[in-house]
Amino acid sequence: MSAIKNVEYGLEKIFYGAQDFLPLLGTDYVELYVGNAKQAAHFYKTAFGFQSLAYAGLETGVRDKASYVLSQDKIRLVLTTPLTSSSAINQHLAKHGDGVKVIALWVEDATKSFEETTKRGARPFMEPTKEADEFGEVIRSGIYTYGETVHVFVERKNYKGTFLPGYKPWKSDYNPTDVGLKFIDHMVGNVGWGEMNQWVKWYEDVMGFVNFLSFDDKQIHTEYSALMSKVMSNGNGRIKFPINEPAEGKKKSQIEEYLDFYEGAGVQHIAVATDDIIKTVTTLRARGIEFLGAPPRTYYEEIPARLGEHMKMMHEDISVLEALGILVDADEDGYLLQIFTRPVEDRPTLFFEIIQRMGAKGFGAGNFKALFESIEREQERRGTL
Ligand code: FE2
Repeated sequence: MSAIKNVEYGLEKIFYGAQDFLPLLGTDYVELYVGNAKQAAHFYKTAFGFQSLAYAGLETGVRDKASYVLSQDKIRLVLTTPLTSSSAINQHLAKHGDGVKVIALWVEDATKSFEETTKRGARPFMEPTKEADEFGEVIRSGIYTYGETVHVFVERKNYKGTFLPGYKPWKSDYNPTDVGLKFIDHMVGNVGWGEMNQWVKWYEDVMGFVNFLSFDDKQIHTEYSALMSKVMSNGNGRIKFPINEPAEGKKKSQIEEYLDFYEGAGVQHIAVATDDIIKTVTTLRARGIEFLGAPPRTYYEEIPARLGEHMKMMHEDISVLEALGILVDADEDGYLLQIFTRPVEDRPTLFFEIIQRMGAKGFGAGNFKALFESIEREQERRGTL
């Protein structure tokens, strides 16, 4: 399969490319702008099993916004809402609805990260800024990526506090158990018609990423709609950003629907890893998380043939996967299990993916067709197909 070849080519470039001018240690946090952060935080705790970590708002001396920081293993979510009509966050909310504003990346040197990326053409969002409190100091800087989404570089090697200076630990009497989410596996951006390659080049030139997997509309299509996708990875492979653009089909694709309702490019989904997807999804369903409808029975009957050799190492019961609507895909290195939530807000925009990798390095291309058909059934209900 051509995609696999690209993986090898991509990794070779990663290992021998030699010019990692932007070393990234991992995802630091993801910040969402939301209409009501207090209620959103309750949802992410109750339904997704996030834990209360830190808070900033009126009680900490911040007058114009409130931010709730939630964590689950290595994942940190920040939910921010404006407190006044004059806050610039309002314009973002009015245009896009609730959604991801910041994909923050953990770096050794936020000043150098800013300099290296802006001199390569990145549009500045935040000049290197030092913040300090009794636990030390943090330096942050930021650049714009697609749409109004930004990357913030976080240098925290001289900081021992809970989250960032200005935040206080958030102690809550309400602490639902986690659901086994471990870390962010990848985050996907939807960009406009014909803009995918421009953003691929931006991640190559400005961030030093490589394109290590590509899917075109011949691989990803149904009778009605299609998309094109390229997966960008940083040098050490810890950060992966697939970028989608819509492709022509008989009807409106899910990417187009997203662009219409988000009113521009933005983060389509956050994929979070678990090492026990059956347990995680069982718990999420019990707590009210809605997932896309399961594919038809024939999909599950075909799994042994699709997995081939990898069936030997598969220990999950296919009937359990079917009952939960979990999808399965395989590549040369192993298999993966994945499932997608419905959008987590009223606009059909941001959603989550739960993924368990059993060796496979891909993104479930073998599931795209089943997935698309499932999404099209939902679009039909929304009258947006
Ligand atoms: Fe994904």
